[in-house]
Amino acid sequence: MPNTYEEFVKAFHPKSGLDLKFYKQNQMQRRILSFMSSHGHQTYPLFIKALDVDPVLYDAFFKHLTINVSQFFRDANQWKTLRETVIPLLLKAKNPLKLWSAGCSSGQEPYSLAITMMEYFTSTKFTVLGTDIDVNVLQQAKDGLYKQNDFASTPPEFLQKYFTPSDSGYQIKDPVKRLVTFQRQNLLTDRFQPGYDFIACRNVVIYFTDEAKEMLYKKFTDALRPGGILFTGSTEHLFGMNNLGLKPVSSFFYQKL
Ligand SMILES: C[S@@+](CC[C@H](N)C(=O)[O-])C[C@H]1O[C@@H](n2cnc3c(N)ncnc32)[C@H](O)[C@@H]1O
Repeated sequence: MPNTYEEFVKAFHPKSGLDLKFYKQNQMQRRILSFMSSHGHQTYPLFIKALDVDPVLYDAFFKHLTINVSQFFRDANQWKTLRETVIPLLLKAKNPLKLWSAGCSSGQEPYSLAITMMEYFTSTKFTVLGTDIDVNVLQQAKDGLYKQNDFASTPPEFLQKYFTPSDSGYQIKDPVKRLVTFQRQNLLTDRFQPGYDFIACRNVVIYFTDEAKEMLYKKFTDALRPGGILFTGSTEHLFGMNNLGLKPVSSFFYQKL
């Protein structure tokens, strides 16, 4: 039974597929201990036993660890750069486009990509893949039902055009839903398909160790076609991008040479 953080990490990995050794210890340990204490668990051995027998506790804990906060068109200025500069640049070289939202949470980001393409690039064919490690958020993404606060950065006309209001929130319309495929994937351990024109990976690596980030950005670069573009989160500047073979197109957008 795990008595230390390291032992807990080892015991949790086979259970969840999530290897916490790729995540920064300080932040993760703090999150685990705060969850344990708010759920009345004082020690790692008792907590890991409780996770074994209580699926509701397990799901809540997994959600707490992976941090699923998202929004449609999160960081509106960057979506403006995407439609005015980045997508036109990609289309100069290739049409159709293969787009991927990695760490997509409950689907707001891949659906925002699909809406952008439908709205501004009407004659372009494209596919959008959304992946995440958490099956519960992926189910929410497939259901496509959202709350008002998911739309704080969304132009109101998009809400009207692409969503149907219901008693329980806003349902994404079928033509958008049909354009996005969702899959479970662990970015740290699973292999990536090659040939993407565009990869968005935003607000996912915040808790990854520097080694894990480096490995992941290398995998993303390999998965992009030459000229393809990586979109990162507002706090996630790429250091050593020359070594990776990427050059900045604009803040938070990096193109493979
Ligand atoms: C804060 S959300 C970001 C959502 C969206 N990209 C955005 O910026 O609004 C982070 C997501 O990364 C996912 N995640 C964390 N570690 C992961 C991993 N190793 N593989 C795949 N997804 C992971 C979490 O499950 C969570 O849904």
